[in-house]
Amino acid sequence: MARQPYKRLFTPGPLTTSRTVKEAMLVDLGSREDEFIAVVRDVRQRLLKVGGVSQTQGYEAVLLQGSGTFGIEAVLSSAIPPHDKPLILVNGAYGERMLAIAARHGLAADALRWPENQITDPAAVQRRIEEDPAITHVAVVHSETSTGLLNPIEEIGSRVKAARRSFIVDAMSSFGAVPLSLESSHIDFLISSANKCLEGVPGFCFVLARKESLQACQGNARTLSLDLFEQWRGLEANGQFRFTPPTHAILAFAQALRELDAEGGVAGRAKRYRANHAALMAGMTSLGFRPFLPPEHQGWVISAFHDPGDPAFQFEEFYQRLARRGLIIYPGKLGQIPCFRIGNIGRLTANDIHELLDAVAAVLQAMNVAVPVAPPRLDPANP
Ligand SMILES: Cc1ncc(COP(=O)(O)O)c(C=O)c1O
Repeated sequence: MARQPYKRLFTPGPLTTSRTVKEAMLVDLGSREDEFIAVVRDVRQRLLKVGGVSQTQGYEAVLLQGSGTFGIEAVLSSAIPPHDKPLILVNGAYGERMLAIAARHGLAADALRWPENQITDPAAVQRRIEEDPAITHVAVVHSETSTGLLNPIEEIGSRVKAARRSFIVDAMSSFGAVPLSLESSHIDFLISSANKCLEGVPGFCFVLARKESLQACQGNARTLSLDLFEQWRGLEANGQFRFTPPTHAILAFAQALRELDAEGGVAGRAKRYRANHAALMAGMTSLGFRPFLPPEHQGWVISAFHDPGDPAFQFEEFYQRLARRGLIIYPGKLGQIPCFRIGNIGRLTANDIHELLDAVAAVLQAMNVAVPVAPPRLDPANP
């Protein structure tokens, strides 16, 4: 694996990318050129394959300019007609964001909430749908990046499907790293972005959708630029984006998808990320850090750790000292609890994780934080 010339990003994205992905951007292509249109076509097909489906099975891939949030907003404001009622499952900041988007579009959304260290409960979702016939859609975050928790989308999907509702999944930080099939999870719309586990650079997001569900979006959109149906129709008509495409980011992404294949697809990538995650957890707990999540809910993409109780620990100083060594970690994103996060995705191996752990130990020592800082606590209900 090519060495990184500069910083290593232990974050949920943008991520450390390979040299070859960056090099793929050293080309200027016109957005209407056949060569670029062929790349877009190829990327759309490959994305469906990563989602375990194909066009012949009735699924479509739509690329859209902007970060992941733009994709979520495009789906919520194109797939849900103004008088429909989505049920949004919330156990972290990204579930809250979907709720905020729905509110901004004037949707009468309902929310089911769980604490940030608990997964969404499929039986509770089923009960709420049965109680309220007005609910038309269910939306959930797969990997809640605020904690690293993985929600059980397959079980939720089968209950949503049995109740004949539409199922929307924010798979921003799981797609490409956690094997899934849109068909077996009964997903109508899945949203993810170029700069997460597929290891591209930022610049666009994408939506994978059941073709029938996508066709039903026609005329619903409340915005011009985030009109999912029209974006799809444009891509289908002439292979082109409606508005200026992020050409360089798409070329980088095509290379990133070839590198995913070379690694053995989603299964191969999951294997590397799981090894990274295991090294991270073992190292951090042996330094005395306490993970926020109980292990049974913890995914292998990003992890949240409690700030140590030692008054000598200040996150900002910890962060800056690591950053000066070219190692970028991430602040917490939890309501009340002081935490920070470390991602183990992107072009990183267990060696990079070991280098980070050595640096963490050295920085704690320089800050006069006692190592180990606290014995690991095992009671997940009372973190
Ligand atoms: C689960 C999830 N949803 C949505 C987003 C928002 O994506 P972006 O910051 O690219 O808009 C993120 C970003 O990390 C995420 O992890």
